[in-house]
Amino acid sequence: MQLLSLVLALAFFLLFAQESLAFIECSVLDYGGVADNSTDLGPALLSAWKNCVIPKATSTATDTLLYVPSGNYLLKSNVLFDDAVNFNLHITGNIYLPFDSSLSGTMIEFENCDNIVLNGPGAIYGNGYRYRPGGNLSLYPNRPRLIRFQNCNNCEITQVTLYDAPMFHVTVIGNNNEVHDMSIHATHIGETDGFDMSGNNNYVHDVSVENGDECVTVKTPTNGFVAERITCKWTAGCNIGSFGDDNTAVDVQNVYYSDVTLSNSDAGVMIKSYPDNVGTVKNITYTGFTLTTVAYPIDIDAFWMGNGEDTGKLSITDVSFSGFTGTGTSTRPAVKLHCNSATPCKDIKFSGISITGTAANTYTNACGSGLSGLSSC
Ligand SMILES: *[C@@H]1O[C@H](CO)[C@@H](O)[C@H](O)[C@H]1NC(C)=O
Ligand SMILES: *[C@@H]1O[C@H](CO)[C@@H](O)[C@H](O)[C@H]1NC(C)=O
Ligand SMILES: *[C@@H]1O[C@H](CO)[C@@H](O)[C@H](O)[C@H]1NC(C)=O
Repeated sequence: MQLLSLVLALAFFLLFAQESLAFIECSVLDYGGVADNSTDLGPALLSAWKNCVIPKATSTATDTLLYVPSGNYLLKSNVLFDDAVNFNLHITGNIYLPFDSSLSGTMIEFENCDNIVLNGPGAIYGNGYRYRPGGNLSLYPNRPRLIRFQNCNNCEITQVTLYDAPMFHVTVIGNNNEVHDMSIHATHIGETDGFDMSGNNNYVHDVSVENGDECVTVKTPTNGFVAERITCKWTAGCNIGSFGDDNTAVDVQNVYYSDVTLSNSDAGVMIKSYPDNVGTVKNITYTGFTLTTVAYPIDIDAFWMGNGEDTGKLSITDVSFSGFTGTGTSTRPAVKLHCNSATPCKDIKFSGISITGTAANTYTNACGSGLSGLSSC
């Protein structure tokens, strides 16, 4: 009798131990997904999430995989993981978007989420060029964005490769999120943002972006952001902003970019605002930039868009640029500071700026140190 209960206890222990050590795979193939590049993957993703992932999830995201095995899949509908927690969307296959003029919004969105891993080694192909025939961005203005983490904390995005989204590629809004070791490849055209980040203590590293718009960019509000080892090709740069017309609550602080390589870009780093913006941008550090043919390598522009009224109340202070080397373009200055007379930029610090082949620097309503002609504060 005692032996029997011991054996039973042991059997239970082994079963439990095995269960807790092995991860659980919720494959879309068991929930209506077909790797035929024609069946819509959207309902299968949601069904596998609801019926398999949610009941089995533990507090470790990688214990429970929402699994897209290798093969080709068509994603024809928007997928929203609302109030999603504690799982790993693991994409091994290739996901394609169709051309469908009625598609809008975001194709894969996590909302109010926590502790999610989105990883590869698979890829998502946006077929964005079909939504911009002849490069016309206004033909399908509601064309879909690719991936969005909206109000999400403690998430990780890695290893998945993204191609040519109809609109922006990755938007992350929330705290303590990490994006790393992945790449984006898109056409050299606008409205193809790579990574748009906002929130507190987000971290982007070891990524590369080829597109025609934002590379790794900070939006408001942000308090604490680090970007390291970033490569940007044909982009509009690693920027802060824009903050949108009439945004009177701009708050971006404690931002750090290091080890960034940019080529054939419209900008290197730009703080881009409207003259009617109100708020604070402070304690921003850019260090270790290597540039090849970059227009506006360093640019703070209070008049990026909007009317020219010089009464702006956006305070931009304590911004430092160090170790910028490489080439600009002959018609643009290496450094352009264009701030408001009502609220000048203060404590703009430069060191080790060596950008060749540019027009002369211009400083308007800005003070700081480290460049000749820039008045001290
Ligand atoms: C899958 O379908 C998409 C959309 O029609 C198409 O662009 C893509 O080339 C297809 N992929 C394969 C491997 O056939
Ligand atoms: C782009 O598409 C819009 C909307 O159909 C049209 O009004 C405009 O003329 C097009 N532009 C070009 C350059 O073809
Ligand atoms: C400025 O930002 C950096 C991150 O780039 C942070 O480590 C530092 O503490 C901040 N300084 C202040 C005074 O907040």
